Amino acid sequence: MNIQENFPLKTFNTFGVEAKAKYFAEVHSLEELKETLQFSYSPILVLGGGSNVLFTKDFDGLVIKLNLKGISEEILDENHVLVTAKAGENWHEFVQFTISKNYGGLENLSLIPGNVGTCPIQNIGAYGTEIKDHFTSCKALNTETLEVEIIDLEQCKFGYRDSIFKTSAKGKYIILEVTFKLTTKNHHIKTEYGAISAELKNLGIENPTIQDVAKAVINIRQSKLPNPAEIGNAGSFFKNPTIPLEQFENLKNQFPEIQGYANGNFVKVPAGWLIENAGWKGKQIGNVASHKLQSLVIINATGEATGKEIYDFSTMIIDAVKEKYGIELEREVNIV
Ligand code: FAD
Ligand code: EPU
Repeated sequence: MNIQENFPLKTFNTFGVEAKAKYFAEVHSLEELKETLQFSYSPILVLGGGSNVLFTKDFDGLVIKLNLKGISEEILDENHVLVTAKAGENWHEFVQFTISKNYGGLENLSLIPGNVGTCPIQNIGAYGTEIKDHFTSCKALNTETLEVEIIDLEQCKFGYRDSIFKTSAKGKYIILEVTFKLTTKNHHIKTEYGAISAELKNLGIENPTIQDVAKAVINIRQSKLPNPAEIGNAGSFFKNPTIPLEQFENLKNQFPEIQGYANGNFVKVPAGWLIENAGWKGKQIGNVASHKLQSLVIINATGEATGKEIYDFSTMIIDAVKEKYGIELEREVNIV
């Protein structure tokens, strides 16, 4: 085990901001992880791909970069397979692996950055699928007892960009591996969300396979989301807010163009629409901007932004949206 001091994190977060970890360790096995935890450094921050964190200052504790690798499979029945991936596997490579084996379920989640071990934290989702739709359980190290526990679907209490790992069990577990139940045939193809069917039409595909859906999702994502390898960002900076139907109807009277997706007595409003129509799409202040094609994404426009600048920019957006629409946006990105 090699613990480094004053370790620079710029290349370990997709915003590409400078921050130093007082201590830093890369771990490759459960034994190494337990050994590292016995040193009682605190606080501790586990890092996967660093694609959903914003460092606003140096981290005065131990950052653990989790590099556990490996994928295994177990046939469940005639139609299903259980596939387990260790936390340090790259998410998109894992999804591509499942697609190459013709295992269905995760294709709509293609090209999401980050690692497998992080996917349960915010129940990653895109294009009509969330991991909760295919998740069966995960193995996690309880940081208090140093015991490995199996946490099942129900225990995770998944919601929209939410789970116990962000709420009641925040900081308690380090996720070691995640298991998914995927189809081996009779795949359930989901094309109804967003622009998927239009993109499939563009590609000239009438009866899409899971491979075709993945291709369409990749094309759509590449057309509007900035690639973090080229421009620092962490995807959607805010969650899409859910407001009471009555509040939405009042807003609709005032702003007839406002978008919303009703769910019972509540309506989910696209934060991107609110931000754009509050005048912030593509706006740049100093080193930070809202992306010109997707205003929900805040970017490190010059590559020189500090985490504090990005955080302050996000506060200005929250204030502007609150002032115009009376809706308080909540940050999706984990602020450190
Ligand atoms: P990190 O940033 O490394 O960590 C995120 C948080 O999880 C931190 O608090 C960290 O301490 C904690 N954590 C990390 N690993 C573990 C672990 N093993 N055990 C316990 N805690 C852990 N998200 C979506 O849901 N849908 C999208 O469509 C989407 N699109 C994106 C597009 C772009 C361009 C980018 C940059 C991001 C996007 N995201 C999206 C956000 C991001 O990809 C996900 O949140 C992803 O799961 C983060 O994984 P990571 O490994 O990079 O997490
Ligand atoms: N919109 C605007 N202006 C903008 C951006 C969006 O008006 O600048 C409108 C669009 O016209 C569209 C609606 O908002 O009608 C929704 O936009 P989009 O389909 O791009 O999706 P989103 O709600 O902005 C969410 C997720 C993404 C996920 C996509 C696809 C959240 C916070 N974000 O974005 O996840 O990839 O749907 O499913 O739920 C992430 O979490 O990091 C992320 C990128």
